[in-house]
Amino acid sequence: MMNEKVLLMLNEQMNREFYSWYLYLSVASYFSGLDLEGFEQWTRRQAEEETVHAMKIYNYILERNGDVVLSKIPAPTQKWNSPLEAVEAVYSHECELTGRINNIVRLTREVDDYTTEVFLHWFVTEQREEEAMANRVLQKLKMIGSDMSGLLMLDAQVATVGQAQEPAP
Ligand code: FEO
Repeated sequence: MMNEKVLLMLNEQMNREFYSWYLYLSVASYFSGLDLEGFEQWTRRQAEEETVHAMKIYNYILERNGDVVLSKIPAPTQKWNSPLEAVEAVYSHECELTGRINNIVRLTREVDDYTTEVFLHWFVTEQREEEAMANRVLQKLKMIGSDMSGLLMLDAQVATVGQAQEPAP
């Protein structure tokens, strides 16, 4: 039987991953409205990945005979003032997720739950990659500034960002 606090934090993380799905969907629709199809494809793909993350935790909780507790998903921000602002929101959100995962890993060590700690290693690696990916796009947007042709070139590049980068489960 899983430690109660570990179970609580895993449920919180699962719900936060579902919120991540919402956030990426919202950012994708913002980019669609700007006709930035590459950015839209990238963030749509990220949205799909977030459901995979949430379901990994969902399945793990059930496998350990825990209760899955699905909570209300808050509405994400719908509009940003610029692509830079939208990607900043994504990057900041990924950093927040990393902090949450680290907190759960810390707890599993405190309560000697090595099984959950090992399960979470996948997420530690995934967060490193997700942060790096969002930060790469963010830094390029900062370099581009208000140069529209640079933005269109980056739009073509980000269409494939993150493809086949999921670490093995
Ligand atoms: Fe589920 Fe983007 O981390």
